[in-house]
Amino acid sequence: MSIDTPTLPVFGPGLTQQRQLLTAVPGPRSLELQRRREAAVSRGIGSVLPVYVIAGGGGILRDVDGNSLIDLGSGIAVTTVGNSAPQVVANVTDQVAKFTHTCFMVTPYEGYVEVCEALNELTPGDHEKRSALFNSGAEAVENAVKVARSYTGRQAVVAFEHAYHGRTNLTMALTAKNMPYKHTFGPFSPEVYRVPFSYPYRDGLTGAEAAERAISRIDSEVGAGNVAAILIEPLQGEGGFIVPAEGFLTAIADYARASGILLIADEIQTGFCRTGDWFACDHEGIVPDLITTAKGIAGGLPLAGVTGRADVMDSIHTGGLGGTFGGNPVACAAALGAIAEMREHDLCSAAGRIGSILLSALAAIAARSGRIGEVRGRGGMIAAEIVVPGTSQPDPATTAAIARACHAEGVVVLTAGTYGNVLRFLPPLTIPEDLLIEGLAVVGEAFDARA
Ligand SMILES: Cc1ncc(COP(=O)(O)O)c(C=O)c1O
Repeated sequence: MSIDTPTLPVFGPGLTQQRQLLTAVPGPRSLELQRRREAAVSRGIGSVLPVYVIAGGGGILRDVDGNSLIDLGSGIAVTTVGNSAPQVVANVTDQVAKFTHTCFMVTPYEGYVEVCEALNELTPGDHEKRSALFNSGAEAVENAVKVARSYTGRQAVVAFEHAYHGRTNLTMALTAKNMPYKHTFGPFSPEVYRVPFSYPYRDGLTGAEAAERAISRIDSEVGAGNVAAILIEPLQGEGGFIVPAEGFLTAIADYARASGILLIADEIQTGFCRTGDWFACDHEGIVPDLITTAKGIAGGLPLAGVTGRADVMDSIHTGGLGGTFGGNPVACAAALGAIAEMREHDLCSAAGRIGSILLSALAAIAARSGRIGEVRGRGGMIAAEIVVPGTSQPDPATTAAIARACHAEGVVVLTAGTYGNVLRFLPPLTIPEDLLIEGLAVVGEAFDARA
């Protein structure tokens, strides 16, 4: 059955950048699609806000009922350049008409090489690098761990509390939170060890103290000589946008280097201008041995990468890495378009401006609400941790209620956090500032209604 589209313009970049609600959210056509979905799609897959989208561009998502919603989530940090960004559309349209797949492992093509060249150039460090492309973030993390184990001849992998690295068997083991990611899905991959991250709001430690705590756990419980890799999100994403105290990352990186352990920076959520730099590692000048990327890399098409030191990446036997679809030519064309958009519009600076707006709006809400324990983040990746007033006790119920209130008013916000009490903001970096301010006013009203 097809859904009639409303007679409003539906082209991504041409979408009027205005919030407009014609029906309740979700509206009747979305509800009808939701009923069809329930009979066809596994319940194992959830949706934050079941409005069915027909178009997106800038900071707007248009749904089947003609509602225009403000997008403060970017499909979880993916549409950094906005939906249907002009250079993504042009490159994809051109590529899809030429050829859609050969498999790089059978007969290669230039786009794959060009994306690897761009990754080698843009990722931290000016040493010689190599890259390999995959389909999803989890697959990139899996491959980074494969490379690290093979190169070092060691098996143990250290991950952190509150970490999120994906939903495959190995990456579930690396991910911290049980519900919904791991519950009932074990047993998990062995030789994964978890140590505390730096969470200044909750642990009160300096970066050096938090690093010492983590390192002493590695030394006593794993043994540095057994560790192939330390896998770290330089600013944790799903865990609740946890920004480690200054110096934590540097101390962990120094320890890894001194112990022959490879440092893998998982920049799947933080990469590609999201935090105001090309990569979050740039903030403290960290140069990881390997870095994983996905999400924002390709303007919405599925693509992921592992980039790292040439000697490490080239240590793998030919044929040891790969996959049928990895580095698909259409996804590579999209990535080249997305990177061109980031450069042309200086989206790293845009992330900085967006971050200032988010931080000041959320600080003002925090000052009058008492429900926000901490506002934190960097660039276009900012969150508010919601607590029971007067305490630091997580308040997931209020967090969910505020998110629902925003959704009902046509503002797409996401939650996160080990305790489910973090409201997070990841707008497209092409969102008009007045739209962002309007969206944040709606968030403020949702807090005020619970004063
Ligand atoms: C830091 C991080 N690593 C890995 C992943 C997994 O990526 P994907 O969902 O593409 O497998 C995510 C997804 O949210 C992520 O945020």
